[in-house]
Amino acid sequence: MKHFLDLASLSSDELQELIDIALRLKAEWRDGGNAPCLQGKTLGMIFQKPSLRTRVSFEMAMKHLGGDAIMLGPGEIGLGVRESVPDVARVLSSYVHGIMARVFDHRDVVELAEFSRVPVINGLSDDYHPCQALADILTIRESCGRLRGLKLAFVGDGNNVAASVALACAHFGVDFSIATPEGYEMKAPIREQAYTIAARNGVNLEMHTRPQAAVADADVIYTDTWVSMGQEAEAGERAAEFGAFQVNADLLRHANPAAIVLHCLPAHRGDEITDDIMDGARSRIFEQAENRLHAQKAILLRILA
Ligand code: CP
Ligand code: NVA
Repeated sequence: MKHFLDLASLSSDELQELIDIALRLKAEWRDGGNAPCLQGKTLGMIFQKPSLRTRVSFEMAMKHLGGDAIMLGPGEIGLGVRESVPDVARVLSSYVHGIMARVFDHRDVVELAEFSRVPVINGLSDDYHPCQALADILTIRESCGRLRGLKLAFVGDGNNVAASVALACAHFGVDFSIATPEGYEMKAPIREQAYTIAARNGVNLEMHTRPQAAVADADVIYTDTWVSMGQEAEAGERAAEFGAFQVNADLLRHANPAAIVLHCLPAHRGDEITDDIMDGARSRIFEQAENRLHAQKAILLRILA
């Protein structure tokens, strides 16, 4: 594994290995701290969009493993504006040992990887959020004690998070069903990627337009914001289209009574999810946020050590 750009270009075995490493590093950290396996290594972090979880969990992951991180915010390097993406990749990769980038256009992170001498990690693009999905799998595995044979239902926008969660489910043997409003389905090429991996692993994938149909007998209910970063101008229109796609107590009645609830965060309480569900007994949302730290340590260790 050279880069970590999207889950479609990695094998199910490689991803399973990352979950095993994450579980080990999490136990080690809880036991008093991680060994400094990344001593002397620095991660350059490029952000074209805001972030709490990705930024802080990557920085702390590097520190816990004995390394360092440099934050390059939206106003700093002007990726593709002040300087071309290939030139940024050539220069930055001569200073640091790894690059993590959060971008709008997915092609930018692919181009960074193409011209970088060091590994590149996708910290969210308009198409994918693979680091998030790895942390989600870790959370489901811990909470449900297994993965294969479970059913995850995603309710809401068929966007970057849904795409990576679908691919992760296909890799790890979790049946995946999604309900989106018409016009907000997962992109066709990503759907194809998910179907290919799912077929290989005997996983069932379903697409719905009614949330109640998607969540029937689900063990995990997952949602994300209706208005992703960069889509703020569409907020009014989206609120109208997504109104029936709220994760609330009524919807959960259609799922397995023991179903857990996930959300990648940030949440818009009262829109895609209600307070009682976010803060209720079935929510694993804050464990999920913590797991970003542990899952990313595994990625960093695997590609930088
Ligand atoms: N879930 C997630 O990626 O959060 P941030 O946007 O805060 O990094
Ligand atoms: N779909 C959301 C995820 C945020 C972590 C966005 O792209 O803004």
